[in-house]
Amino acid sequence: MHISLSVKLVLGAMCTIAASKRNMSARCHQFSDELVEFSSHFQEPEPPLIETEFKTAFLQHKWDNQGRSNIATGVWYSSPSQRLVVLNEAFDGAFGSSTFDYSNTTSDGLVDNTLVLFSPNGTMLPVYRDYVNSDFPLFEDDMLVKGGAVFSGLVERLLVGQVASWSMLYQGAIPLTVFVDACGVVLGYDYWAPFLRTRVVTNFFDTTVGPVDL
Ligand SMILES: *[C@@H]1O[C@H](CO)[C@@H](O)[C@H](O)[C@H]1NC(C)=O
Ligand SMILES: *[C@@H]1O[C@H](CO)[C@@H](O)[C@H](O)[C@H]1NC(C)=O
Ligand SMILES: *[C@@H]1O[C@H](CO)[C@@H](O)[C@H](O)[C@H]1NC(C)=O
Repeated sequence: MHISLSVKLVLGAMCTIAASKRNMSARCHQFSDELVEFSSHFQEPEPPLIETEFKTAFLQHKWDNQGRSNIATGVWYSSPSQRLVVLNEAFDGAFGSSTFDYSNTTSDGLVDNTLVLFSPNGTMLPVYRDYVNSDFPLFEDDMLVKGGAVFSGLVERLLVGQVASWSMLYQGAIPLTVFVDACGVVLGYDYWAPFLRTRVVTNFFDTTVGPVDL
């Protein structure tokens, strides 16, 4: 089982969103002609600032050459103001909640993770807590700007339609692509790493932007 998940089923269930539902107006999916590849108007745009406080449904698949093939789905709460990412997730045979506390990290980038799992009969499994390599980043509003992200085209993404893709080397080492709508809302990200031939694909949908109370 993938153990970079964590805690707080009970607390997680009480997460609330302070802001109103984002106005999913069509303009958030309309991009200027300058972003259309092979158009005579094309001009590479500057990387945008992104929204970082949000609640979203997500689907993530991670695989590598160690035989790992984990698919997780659930709700993701992102709160940079509290330095927290909380995921309430369902797995094959268990459900649970995973908390990443980004105020408690190691010098090599590992993050404090607490994972609480329950079996379907309600039995709580032993709580896992340790520093882990997180597949659930805490997005910073200027990460694409600071990372010198390269515009890599408008693409169609599962469940959300057309978004802009931005590619950068995360922490100078990991090729990361972030998918962003025209309103600066992240609607997924993919990355790969050569060491274990790892690939992680993450889709967001039903996203609500605004402060999350965890
Ligand atoms: C959403 O945005 C559109 C376009 O800007 C506007 O016409 C509409 O009234 C907005 N709806 C809400 C509920 O704010
Ligand atoms: C509940 O499920 C767990 C794990 O599947 C199992 O070990 C345990 O025996 C079950 N408990 C009861 C009371 O059925
Ligand atoms: C920091 O994270 C580690 C690893 O999960 C944990 O053992 C420790 O108690 C945490 N420290 C604080 C102050 O929360």
